[in-house]
Amino acid sequence: MASNNLILFSTLVVVLFQAPWAQVSASNSHDFLQCLHKNSLPSNPIFQAIYTPQNTAYTNVLDIYARNLRFMTPQTRKPLLIVAAMHESHVRATIMCCNETNVLMRIRSGGHDYEALSYTANIPFVILDTFNLRGIDVNLEDDTAWVEAGVLLGELYYRIAEKSKTRAFPAGVCPTVGVSGHFSGGGFGTLTRKYGLSVDNIVDAKIMGLDGIVKDRKAMGEDLFWAIRGGGGASFGVILSWKLKLVAVPETVTVLTVNRTMEQGALDLVYKWQNVATILPDDLFLRMELRAIEGFSLFLGKTDALVEIMNKQFPELGLGENDCTEMKWIKSVLYWDSIPGGTELQVLLEREWHKKNYLKSKSDFVTKAVSKPELEKIFQKMMQLGDIIMQWNPYGGRMNNISESAVPLPQRAGYLFKIQYIVYWTHDGKANAEQNMQNSREFYEFMAPYVTSSPREAFLNYRDLDIGQNPMCNASYATAKAYNLKYFKGNFERLVKIKTAVDPTNFFRNEQSIPTLPM
Ligand SMILES: Cc1cc2nc3c(=O)[nH]c(=O)nc-3n(C[C@H](O)[C@H](O)[C@H](O)COP(=O)(O)OP(=O)(O)OC[C@H]3O[C@@H](n4cnc5c(N)ncnc54)[C@H](O)[C@@H]3O)c2cc1C
Ligand SMILES: *[C@@H]1O[C@H](CO)[C@@H](O)[C@H](O)[C@H]1NC(C)=O
Ligand SMILES: *[C@@H]1O[C@H](CO)[C@@H](O)[C@H](O)[C@H]1NC(C)=O
Ligand SMILES: *[C@@H]1O[C@H](CO)[C@@H](O)[C@H](O)[C@H]1NC(C)=O
Ligand SMILES: *[C@@H]1O[C@H](CO)[C@@H](O)[C@H](O)[C@H]1NC(C)=O
Repeated sequence: MASNNLILFSTLVVVLFQAPWAQVSASNSHDFLQCLHKNSLPSNPIFQAIYTPQNTAYTNVLDIYARNLRFMTPQTRKPLLIVAAMHESHVRATIMCCNETNVLMRIRSGGHDYEALSYTANIPFVILDTFNLRGIDVNLEDDTAWVEAGVLLGELYYRIAEKSKTRAFPAGVCPTVGVSGHFSGGGFGTLTRKYGLSVDNIVDAKIMGLDGIVKDRKAMGEDLFWAIRGGGGASFGVILSWKLKLVAVPETVTVLTVNRTMEQGALDLVYKWQNVATILPDDLFLRMELRAIEGFSLFLGKTDALVEIMNKQFPELGLGENDCTEMKWIKSVLYWDSIPGGTELQVLLEREWHKKNYLKSKSDFVTKAVSKPELEKIFQKMMQLGDIIMQWNPYGGRMNNISESAVPLPQRAGYLFKIQYIVYWTHDGKANAEQNMQNSREFYEFMAPYVTSSPREAFLNYRDLDIGQNPMCNASYATAKAYNLKYFKGNFERLVKIKTAVDPTNFFRNEQSIPTLPM
């Protein structure tokens, strides 16, 4: 998401009372620690990877990769402990001990999950954190890269650019998103119209299941390799690393941002955009952000070519050369994150995010352009509710040419765009939170006539527990089917078969995981 929306905010949370969950913790935690030590290898002792609430670093480690202040309140349930694995054997021990002591395991990569499924839960849990696993091995001989589970997108982009100005990887725009949550939920970004989702460009992976054995693509088989590329990794195992096929980008790309208000004809532009953004050349990704009507765009090419295309296909935008800026692809990564142009590229290696706020996100897909009178109604509703932001992300291009069942995410040919709804706020307080959550839900209800229906589809990476969940992570099949159909449609059945085969006891579970087949 374009974080120029995000306001600088910092907060100090002081716990003044003992939260109810703290009492249960002590005994569970003791058993768990004993189990970890029992399973620790002398060659890679686990003690240095463990953070318990008694460690002064515990809160800091928990908070660094927690992105949503909605889940960082004194009332938010905290993990019994955090294992920040430094070695495969630490992952294995954590899995075994969660199974043995019957404690829920959360797996965290970049911690950007919109519903915090990587760092909080309604039942006792432990976090297996992957921030120590962040090797990146870029190989230009065959244009591939192996990346470990805890790598963040900014680091990945930086390491690729360090070796080549004409190679990149299609993935999201926010540099602090983690690769493992992102890839296992699809991965959508500025190169998607040209090269598809991240998962369309992943060629191998390593995963550890309940048996503690590490399996690559060949060993895990094509079914499981298919499932983890969009079906949510956390339903199937711990992904330890991914092998990416790099893609080509020109040395110079062009970016542009154009703002238009209602007085400046925004209505016509938005209407026209729906019919144009999908059929523009796939070198061009033109995203629209609706609030003050702002369009961000990335073009894989030079300004003159871009202006020519736009003046032919989208003259209403009135695009001129002055609206466009040419730069290296890696610089466009900064641009999309609203980082000032002069900033050193090393900023991409910063892992801490300073722009935290309270956030609620939702998603929709659109297959039929919304008419002008309908758009007017939508704008009115947005103005009535106030702080709603909508991002309209164009499909088309390569997305039209990949089959619905190539990976678990079925939205391909025939989809015009994906909507991301964002409501964020920066002030604490229950009433404020409730009002914002209510606005988000009210607007989502309002949008129903204009988006896909039966099922009303959603994008896994924009996780939304409102569309259905099992709060205790013990899915009844019927409940799980209802929300999973929204993410996966016809691919759901195959995901269930694979889940049942690889994790029959449903060890790898969360509020929206893939269920096993009912006995
Ligand atoms: C500011 C911001 C910008 C975003 N921009 C984009 C964008 O441009 N495009 C896009 O597609 N999405 C975007 N997203 C959504 C993002 O892709 C998802 O939230 C993604 O799941 C985050 O991955 P993560 O590793 O950071 O999250 P985490 O919270 O760490 O993980 C998300 C899920 O994956 C599981 N998981 C994590 N690591 C592993 C592992 N090693 N093995 C198995 N399961 C694992 C977690 O348990 C959890 O269920 C954005 C989100 C935010 C907050
Ligand atoms: C997981 O725990 C269950 C129940 O305690 C046990 O039967 C099973 O053997 C364990 N699995 C592994 C792989 O250790
Ligand atoms: C667009 O509007 C935003 C917010 O009003 C402003 O910060 C930004 O500089 C504008 N961008 C351009 C290119 O006009
Ligand atoms: C992709 O495009 C090629 C060539 O245009 C075509 O033959 C093929 O059927 C398309 N595949 C899909 C899945 O649309
Ligand atoms: C899930 O757990 C809750 C609380 O322990 C329980 O009330 C509920 O019946 C369980 N649901 C299923 C489907 O097992």
